[in-house]
Amino acid sequence: MKLAVVGATGMVGEVMLRVLSERKFPFTDLIPVASERSVGKKIMCGGNSYEVVGLETAVSMEPDVALFSAGGSTSLKWAPKFAEVGTVVIDNSSAWRMDPEIKLIIPEINAEELTSTDKIIANPNCSTIQMLVALAPLQKKYGIQRIVVSTYQSITGTGVKAVQQLENEYNDEKGEMAYPYPIHRNAIPHCDVFMDNGYTKEEMKLVNETHKILNDNSIGISATAIRIPVVGGHSESINVQLKKGFELEDIRKLLQDSSGLVVQDNPETNTYPMPIYAEGKNEVFVGRIRRDESQDRTLNLWVVADNLRKGAATNTIQIAEYLMDKKLI
Ligand code: A2P
Repeated sequence: MKLAVVGATGMVGEVMLRVLSERKFPFTDLIPVASERSVGKKIMCGGNSYEVVGLETAVSMEPDVALFSAGGSTSLKWAPKFAEVGTVVIDNSSAWRMDPEIKLIIPEINAEELTSTDKIIANPNCSTIQMLVALAPLQKKYGIQRIVVSTYQSITGTGVKAVQQLENEYNDEKGEMAYPYPIHRNAIPHCDVFMDNGYTKEEMKLVNETHKILNDNSIGISATAIRIPVVGGHSESINVQLKKGFELEDIRKLLQDSSGLVVQDNPETNTYPMPIYAEGKNEVFVGRIRRDESQDRTLNLWVVADNLRKGAATNTIQIAEYLMDKKLI
């Protein structure tokens, strides 16, 4: 198992290396890949040191699997070159997600769609992954009519520059801005770029990726994505109207029994998910489970996950683990 990590020096790439080591991913060769300015640098994984190579070199090494997290344009250009030499690419960027030929996978939900002919596989957006890990069991049992979601997103989703901006502002120092406004002590209702319909691209990812993964374009979805000065993970307030009536206890039991999901919900003990506790964890956490008393068959949930883990690195690695487990690679 020759494994390439493209974007190994980036925020998600670093978490990938950590998760690979934690999960004892069975690679025999690790090929860290980054831009030309990082070539020759040493990076660590599982106590061993590896030298960063460029993309051209990495393709010539014909890895079995390449985990990509180096931005959309790198993926668009390079994923097909790896696929051509027989590498299975699992891509974290938005480049391939909505391509009808490419599968968009959350292992707990739709890994069975994968076959040995899939050479480029897309990893969904971080906000979509955590929302659907919580909602897919409800869709399966009750059917979903409509989702209204508001996100409270960690700055780590923007990258190193945003983490630096918050740190500078916190220390009252000048520096480069990742956002058009200060993020310290602020909430910015603007994640990714604005589109013609007045929504941001991040908000439309929640709509379009949900339709594709749940294979149901009839679900009504309305999203608002907010950036907040938090580091550990994304939080989401989700209002979901189901097609069938439900008992709250059945919902709680269903969520407790769902894979990848941890219920943290007890108002008597102030128990609910929060990003500082989700940080570094691979699961999705759900709490504040309650009926929307203003509308039939409707539920409110609060869903939190480490966006760099289940929202990115962990989900990608779980896809690779599934492929290996099913002998598809
Ligand atoms: P580098 O560190 O050499 O710039 P982040 O999103 O956290 O900024 O990380 C982006 C990752 O993608 C980094 O590892 C970065 O490498 C890598 N990357 C960015 N552009 C390219 C490119 N054109 N070719 C290869 N790797 C790239």
